[in-house]
Parts: sequence; C-alpha cells; structure tokens
Amino acid sequence: MAKVTSARLQTMRVDKDPVTMLTCTDASFAGMLDKAEVDMFLIGDSLGMVIQGDDSTLGVTMDDMVYHTRCVAKATSRGLIVGDLPFGSYQKSPEQAIENATELMAAGAQMVKLEGGVVMSDTVRFLVERGIPVCGHIGLTPQSVHALGGFKVQGKSEEAINDLIVAAKALEQSGASAIVLELVPNDVGRRVTDAINIPVIGIGAGPYCSGQVLNLYDMLDIYQGRKPKFVKNFMADSSSILDAVKAYVTEVKAGTFPGPEHCF
Ligand code: KIV
Repeated sequence: MAKVTSARLQTMRVDKDPVTMLTCTDASFAGMLDKAEVDMFLIGDSLGMVIQGDDSTLGVTMDDMVYHTRCVAKATSRGLIVGDLPFGSYQKSPEQAIENATELMAAGAQMVKLEGGVVMSDTVRFLVERGIPVCGHIGLTPQSVHALGGFKVQGKSEEAINDLIVAAKALEQSGASAIVLELVPNDVGRRVTDAINIPVIGIGAGPYCSGQVLNLYDMLDIYQGRKPKFVKNFMADSSSILDAVKAYVTEVKAGTFPGPEHCF
C-alpha cells in the first residue's frame, strides 16, 4: 500500500482518479479506514459536533485537535493525515498559524486545513514556504457559521461564484495542495474544479469535484443530529463498518456517489 502524499494527490487529479477523504478521530477507525484504502483522513473540527455534542465547531480547541491527531496518526500508515486548525488558532496572524500548525504536525498531521479564501492566502503561503502542506476550505466554512447566517448553500449568485473562483485561485497560487469545497450547487463545484490545477475535494459540492469528503459519523449513521442532504447512510446496505467504508471508497472512485439526491 503506497503512502498517499501531496504529490500523489496531484497525480490523482491529473489521472482523474477521485480522491476519497473521510473524517477520522481515533485509532480504531483509523486502522479501519487504512484497511479500506481511504486516501485522506481528516481530523475535522466537526468533532465538536459529532463527539463533543456542540451545535457548531467553534468550541474546539488546539488541545482537542492535538489529542485526536495523535490517536489517528498511531494507527495510520497509508492515508494522508490532515489536521484542522480550529477556530481562533490561525486567523490572527501567519505567526499564530505556524505556531499551531507546528503543534498539529508534531502530533502526526501531514497537512493542515484552514478555512477562508483570499484573506487567508498570505497565511497559506507563509506555512507552505516553511514546509507545512496546506489544504484550503471554501464555500460553506463552518467556523463562519454566524457570519454566514447558518449552514446555507453558498455560490448562489454569479458574483458569489466569481468570489469562490478567485478564492480558489488565490489558495492555489499561495501553494495550497488541495481545497475542500463545501455546500455549493453542482455547477459551482464543476466551475471551481475546472478553474484550478489542484484537487478540489467536495462535500455537498456535486460529482464534478476531484474527490469527495464526508463526516464518518454521518455516513455511518452514528451521529443522531440533523443530517444534511449531501450525506448518504453507507451502513444501510452494509453488514459491517469496514464494508460501509469500502462501499464509500468504491462509489466515490466509480463516480456513483454523490448521486442526484445528494446534490444541490
Ligand atoms: O471538520 C470537518 O468535518 C470538515 C469537513 C466539512 C470537510 O471540515
């Protein structure tokens, strides 16, 4: 099983081999995801909702992220480990971002993810030039849920779509290795993906992205809170968690997930 690296992600994009990503927060799940050959493991700050029971990601701390990153890193050999920088840990300055990104990398992350487009591009460049691979995150950015007025579909006007394309290009030019694009109509997913040359990993962003990501607790139907339309319950037709994760990988690679019922 060849290790997934930033360079490998780029090859996958060129080869049109869809990138599979799932959130992961502990060693048991990490071992299973590695067995199923999930390409990227995201220690997502959505753990604030699915593990800690909050109604947003805003209360997640660096200590939380370091703890869960360590747990995942111990049991992962193939998947690329991406650690989310939590709310308030990088927005102040590039210096603040590198201090916290360094902590996540020391805990076992191989890439960090942060939310925001043009406004974060200098910070992304600062991290990348100092040896820290970065994944951007645009569209619905959950850490800005209050500014956005809720978990709403983004990119609904031509101006908003152009802003997303400008944001994606700024992140690419700053050296980001990939971008997560969340909650936009299919056509916006396609336009953003076509506008740049790094992988765009969609969540509720339609089938035309370079890859897909879901929250593990959502797709296994463990999380009992409100589930967005873009989530598929992969446990429904599986007899084990491992089978459900394998079905996700198979469907993303085959282009059958997301289906029309998961799209906007
Ligand atoms: O924390 C998370 O689960 C995420 C996904 C929405 C990609 O950032």
